Parts: sequence; structure tokens; C-alpha cells
Amino acid sequence: MAKPTRPMIAPSILSADFAWLGREAAAVEGADWLHVDVMDAHFVPNLTLGLPVVESLLKATDIPMDCHLMITDPGRWAPGYAEAGAHNVTFHAEATDDPVSVGRDIRAAGAKAGLSVKPGTPIEPYLEILRHFDTLLVMSVEPGFGGQSFIPEVLTKVAAVRKLVDSGELTILVEIDGGINADTIEQAAAAGVDCFVAGSAVYGAADPGAAVEALRRQAGLASPHLLL
Ligand code: DX5
Ligand code: ZN
Repeated sequence: MAKPTRPMIAPSILSADFAWLGREAAAVEGADWLHVDVMDAHFVPNLTLGLPVVESLLKATDIPMDCHLMITDPGRWAPGYAEAGAHNVTFHAEATDDPVSVGRDIRAAGAKAGLSVKPGTPIEPYLEILRHFDTLLVMSVEPGFGGQSFIPEVLTKVAAVRKLVDSGELTILVEIDGGINADTIEQAAAAGVDCFVAGSAVYGAADPGAAVEALRRQAGLASPHLLL
């Protein structure tokens, strides 16, 4: 994926009002991606939405859709989100024995392919296969719920991958998800994040659109890698 020239902000609709998703997407029209958390009550202890809702939402907004699949058996379900028109489809490394083939199927179905790791999952075993992906989603909370506290220890994973990207050994977009707000975004930016998911910090704000702009500005001032 081409290197972004400014921080990307991906509001997570997990914190939006599910009765008005089209309207909630419109409230953040300046966002770079719209982050959609798909949870199956198996991979994570929560249930959200699936393909039919994503298909409807794709008709309701032009914001590139970033589907984060927190589900078991991603090989079976992930390509469907790509076929539906999602821009980026991310699944969890912990959910499959063959992440490379799932990523390949997502790309073949027309989307960018993302790999996600939970806070406790080390990145070293996956460094070798990251060249098969467009996005690395580093979870900075345990997946399952919005509004949790940021886990700063995951930034060592961000920094390790940032180094490989900046040295030209790898081309991948580094995304972070969980607990990103005005108090935490600068440390994540400084570690080398390209794309910041923010749920409660955007949809909990009085003006979600203004919150997106404020987070992007704050991240930009703390992102040395964007100047390289
Ligand atoms: C958690 C989800 C996140 C969540 C983030 O499992 O993957 O995308 O919406 O919410 P905040 O920004 O409130 O931590
Ligand atoms: Zn997410």
C-alpha cells in the first residue's frame, strides 16, 4: 500500500448508534477509513454485525471501509467482505493456521488484506509473512469491546515493523486499534503508526467530525516517520 503522507484516522462504528449507521458514517465524512468491527461471539465474547449490514453500509457511504473481522474461520468469511466492496479486510492471525492463503483470497476478491495481532501475540513469528499483506493491525486492547484502556506495551511491535518499513525491507500500513484518544495518540504516532482507529474518542465526542480532524492534527505533529 502506498505510504500515507498524513496520519489516517479510522473511526470505529462500534461506538456509534447502530440504529443510524448511515447517519453516523456521514458524521465523519472527512475520515480516511470507516472501521467496522465484525464480532462473532466465538473469537471474541461479543456479537456485533455481519455481511448484510456491511453491504447496506457500503451503499450508504463513500468512506473506504475497513472491516476488522474478529471471527473464527476467517478463510470462510473474509473474501465475502472483499467481494462486497470493502476497501481493506483484516482478520486475526490467532484465528487461522494459514494466514497467507486467507490474505491471498482477500486480495483476489478485490480488497487490501490486513493481518491483526492481539496484545499478547508476538510479532516476530509473523514478520516473514507480512510481505503478503497490505495492513498490519496491532490491537492495543483485548479485542471485543470499545472504551477500554490503551496498552502501551504493544508499541514495541509497532516500532519493530516501522523500522522494517522505513528501511525499505517491507511495504505495509501500520494500524493501531483500541484506546486511542487525545491522551494516547501521540505515543502511538511517535512509535510509527500510520492509521489510528478511534471509537469512543470519535463517537463519544459532541462533534465526531471535529474529533477526527483534531486527532489527525495531533498525530501529525507527533509522527516523525511521515517526514522521511
Ligand atoms: C475492539 C475494536 C475496536 C474498538 C475501539 O475490539 O476492535 O475497533 O471499537 O474502540 P475504542 O477506540 O473506544 O477503544
Ligand atoms: Zn477494530
